[in-house]
Amino acid sequence: MSIRIKGTGSALPLKTVTNNELSRFVDTTDEWIIERTGIESRHIATGETVDMLAGEAAWKALLDAGVDADKIDLIIVATCSAEQALPCIACQVQKHIGAVNAVAFDINAACAGFLFAMNTADAYISGGIYNNALIIGAEVLSNIVNWSDRTTCILFGDGAGAVYFEKDDRPLKFIQKSNGFKDDVLFCWQRDSVSVFYRGVQTYKYVTMDGREVFRFATRVVSETINELLSNEGLTADDIDLFILHQANLRIIESISKRLGVDMSKFPTNVERLGNTSSASIPLLVDEVRKEGRLKEGMRIVLSGFGAGLTYSACLMEL
Ligand code: ACO
Repeated sequence: MSIRIKGTGSALPLKTVTNNELSRFVDTTDEWIIERTGIESRHIATGETVDMLAGEAAWKALLDAGVDADKIDLIIVATCSAEQALPCIACQVQKHIGAVNAVAFDINAACAGFLFAMNTADAYISGGIYNNALIIGAEVLSNIVNWSDRTTCILFGDGAGAVYFEKDDRPLKFIQKSNGFKDDVLFCWQRDSVSVFYRGVQTYKYVTMDGREVFRFATRVVSETINELLSNEGLTADDIDLFILHQANLRIIESISKRLGVDMSKFPTNVERLGNTSSASIPLLVDEVRKEGRLKEGMRIVLSGFGAGLTYSACLMEL
């Protein structure tokens, strides 16, 4: 048993911020950002919250699937930038869309979060516990970015993507990995303590990153993990029709395409327009390519995400 895509949806904040706009308050240029990252603009929240974006994307996925909200069994939201600690965003989505019968909870595996959530849903559904799941990646990373740090603030964007899955019997394989020993490569100790007993000093409240190390890690582990996933199934990269990767940076995706020996035409991208939207980037891209008619019956696709933790994952899906 496995799961199958039945509907997709996206939500983006209204405001678009160009590289030139960023260069008004940090020392950077449009040329530098495009050359090093491929990013030209991103959507940034000016009032939209993680639960609002997640709810809108969820609604659109259900409309697309033609399914009533009260039929949903499971809602999982992957996020690492929620404004609120409690309740979880998935419960807020449940309320927004009226999914009265759903079980709802969040997952944080940073930029690999959507695939970790999808794998969790697959386990529940394959185990016979639920029949369907609404999986959402939603971020307002602008909440946790240091807007005076040019090495990070230029990278990120806000948004949400949702995919509605139903039980199916087509092949679906995952590899998931975590390496908590590399927690110093990319981190954010977001919250101020309100404890009267707390004696520590609050530091690193914003996303802090060793960019070069992330670049090295991402290019190596993603290509290795995809190759491992494919060789487990007796396949090679040539057998895959599309690679939908976490949209961290165009250069990372280009480097992975080279390492796999696969032409960039099989790697759709939206990082140019949306920046790095962490756990939202994969479902946003799935929604885009699906609406463009690029996901066709019988195709084999690979999804892969990687991020803070470190966490990384790859998924092989037959459509
Ligand atoms: N504008 C202009 N100059 C800049 C900027 C900027 N926005 N940012 C850094 N620089 C400068 C640096 O200060 C440095 O100057 P110096 O030589 O005088 O010291 C110079 O540019 C080169 O800096 P590097 O950090 O070496 O630049 P690099 O080529 O490594 O590019 C980048 C930086 C884009 C962050 C790169 O390391 C990268 O792509 N890393 C991957 C990070 C990533 O994608 N993270 C996403 C989040 S994690 C995730 O999603 C999994």
